[in-house]
Amino acid sequence: MAEPAVVVKVVDNGPYQVKGPVRLVDHDNNEYEIGGRTHLLCRCGHSAKKPFCDGAHVRVGFKGDQRAGG
Ligand code: FES
Repeated sequence: MAEPAVVVKVVDNGPYQVKGPVRLVDHDNNEYEIGGRTHLLCRCGHSAKKPFCDGAHVRVGFKGDQRAGG
């Protein structure tokens, strides 16, 4: 199976890891300046750098390790 252009991985007890060439926009379609090809997006809601993860999920003890279909 060919690797898709963009891969989004749900990290256990942490952020969404987005790998690939992406554009990141807010609700109003304002674009975030992002470099590189790997981005971590906050899933816990506690980051001071939303929409990016700043590691706060560790401090707050965020739990999220569900699997698809589980
Ligand atoms: S997932 Fe890392 S700060 Fe929210």
